[in-house]
Amino acid sequence: MGWLRQWLGLPDTFFGLIHDTASIASLHAILAAREWASPEARRTGERRSLILYTSEHAHSSIDKGAVAVGIGSENVRHVPADSEFRMRPDALAALIEEDVAAGKKPFCVVATLGTTSSTSADPLVAIADLAERHSLWLHVDAAYAGPAAILEEYGHILDGAQRADSIVINPHKWLFTPMDLSAFYTRHPDVMRRSVSLEETPAYLAAAQQERALNYSDYSLALGRRFRALKLWFVLRYFGREGIAQVLRGHLRMAQDLAGKIRRDPDFELSAPVPFSLVCFRYRGSNGENRALLDRVNATGRTYLSSTVLNGNFVLRLAIGNIATTQDDIGDTWELIRSSVPRSTGSRA
Ligand SMILES: Cc1ncc(COP(=O)(O)O)c(C=O)c1O
Repeated sequence: MGWLRQWLGLPDTFFGLIHDTASIASLHAILAAREWASPEARRTGERRSLILYTSEHAHSSIDKGAVAVGIGSENVRHVPADSEFRMRPDALAALIEEDVAAGKKPFCVVATLGTTSSTSADPLVAIADLAERHSLWLHVDAAYAGPAAILEEYGHILDGAQRADSIVINPHKWLFTPMDLSAFYTRHPDVMRRSVSLEETPAYLAAAQQERALNYSDYSLALGRRFRALKLWFVLRYFGREGIAQVLRGHLRMAQDLAGKIRRDPDFELSAPVPFSLVCFRYRGSNGENRALLDRVNATGRTYLSSTVLNGNFVLRLAIGNIATTQDDIGDTWELIRSSVPRSTGSRA
């Protein structure tokens, strides 16, 4: 966790802990944020309307986490995004002011670096400024895109994350580590610990209370833990920072090449910018035709595309993240897509 933190350019003071998934890591972040803003809630249950802010493009795990922690789905604000699917800081500021004026208590903002649908990146510096101004816990969901910050030329994507209260990065998404492994860091281990502590340690755990040992179950809901760290250790040791950078650069290059092909093809269009290694695109036809195209391509068993909806359009998603994926694979996949356009309308090329 120390190597990863260093390679990502996060402060040494960030305390690291491995969770199974980003969903569980973000749930812990929201729990710590509640403990921080409303310490009495652990005893009495939450009595005030604590408000959590996240983008309309945030992953559903943030809503689930807020529900599980008892914040209430009505107290989650989905901040509108700009035309490139990034959270709008002006809209965030307006929502906070509205809630404060209504007597509610803003307590947490979750920014996303690499949203699920399109891998857009929320403006972390502006969001960190607002979080500081309004004393909000800032959690950064960098589950997908975080590893890109290992590349020198992408280090800037985490600008502002150094000021976050917590952050999650998923090596099982884009750092070649098999499921499941999510790296969670917080600058407030004391708050994290309090949020999952009971007033009295049960007798059956008393023997485990050794001052010298760091007991990760003191910082998370789970007591038992798998030895997940080993598989990440192997990845970091085997590839090294430069080796990882080379693979990630390859993925980024393949995504840009594919984006170029799509831009040049009159039958297709890009549906979102391509900041990382996911390409969102669509056939210039109806949503039904795009759905049929997706089914036809996936039915070949030669590749697997996923889908989403952006601006009301059904969109195809091609994600590059496996160490075995080559430029030829992407070229072949593009040919397969091109040759699978809806037969009823045929190619317009
Ligand atoms: C941005 C983002 N956050 C969180 C998650 C949830 O990840 P996990 O499956 O590790 O809970 C995803 C999954 O796609 C995601 O894209």
